[in-house]
Amino acid sequence: MLRRIGVLTSGGDAPGMNAAVRSVVRTAISRGLEVYGIRRGYRGLIEGDFISMDFRSVADILQRGGTILKTARSEEFTTEEGRQRALQQIRRYFLDALVVIGGDGSFRGAIELDKMGVQVIGIPGSIDNDIDCTDYSIGFDTATNTVIDAINKIRDTASSHERTYVIEVMGRHSGHIAITAGLASGAEAVLIPEYKPDLNALCERVVDTQRRGKAHCIIIVAEGLFAEDDAPVPREGSALKVGRIITETTGIETRITILGHLQRGGTPTVLDRTIATLMGAKAVDLLLSGETGKMVGLVNNRPAFCPLEDALRARKPIDHELLMLSDMLAGF
Ligand code: F6P
Repeated sequence: MLRRIGVLTSGGDAPGMNAAVRSVVRTAISRGLEVYGIRRGYRGLIEGDFISMDFRSVADILQRGGTILKTARSEEFTTEEGRQRALQQIRRYFLDALVVIGGDGSFRGAIELDKMGVQVIGIPGSIDNDIDCTDYSIGFDTATNTVIDAINKIRDTASSHERTYVIEVMGRHSGHIAITAGLASGAEAVLIPEYKPDLNALCERVVDTQRRGKAHCIIIVAEGLFAEDDAPVPREGSALKVGRIITETTGIETRITILGHLQRGGTPTVLDRTIATLMGAKAVDLLLSGETGKMVGLVNNRPAFCPLEDALRARKPIDHELLMLSDMLAGF
């Protein structure tokens, strides 16, 4: 019988994680469960960094970015020894089940816990929106709104000077932020890791933009554009490399903006607050109905769930039509 559950946030933080924590804690308490918050993700699970959560402990966090539980990426948890230490803590605190809020790395950890007999449900939290089997991951909508806000400002100066800008957005392996931001900002080009970049075609597009008398040329590049599958992003950075190649090939001056970690912060949008709240409540209900090894998602605006393995099987495919539409509307 389920009496006490734990909740943790892990991997890169994402705006809306707090809304999910609040929803998990309050749903669980309303259903008669006790809740422990585990601080610093799997690192805290190994170290026993647990705090008892009551209804008021999650007051005033719905609107805050980041995660009140803190987060970390734990190397130790990827080892059998680390996971055994975590299991000991789970038993020491008499936790009957866990809710893990995070991205693909966090879910790989959750699958290992499930194999060890721990009842676990995952909630997708990653600004990259690269987790399959859900329309949205928590944080993506806020991050893309932040990107759009930044691009709006860059356009003002880009138009005034009639300049070419290369703007780097997050997405270590995926172009979801880049594509959505490109479509919503009317960018002249979007380059993503899922497609090998044709830099000659890009340079022709930049020249063409000037020839047509466009006021500016905005190119959005996902940070992982040149990264091989699990290799780190090149030192030079994707946007700097693209900008350098444009200038070397065309003689056209470029300006580079790397948006970086500001994309991970800020108050969550209505969409992120809503999906986080729905997913948090659904996660607790799944635990109460005895489910384990599942991820809560949002499909066609309704909470849904699937095996964690399915969510990780392949990276969430990008929507090619969005890219085509974006190009067509920019005149290419
Ligand atoms: O996984 C989300 C993400 O935002 C990626 O897009 C980015 O590459 C990464 O986190 C950066 O994470 P950190 O600097 O925290 O290690």
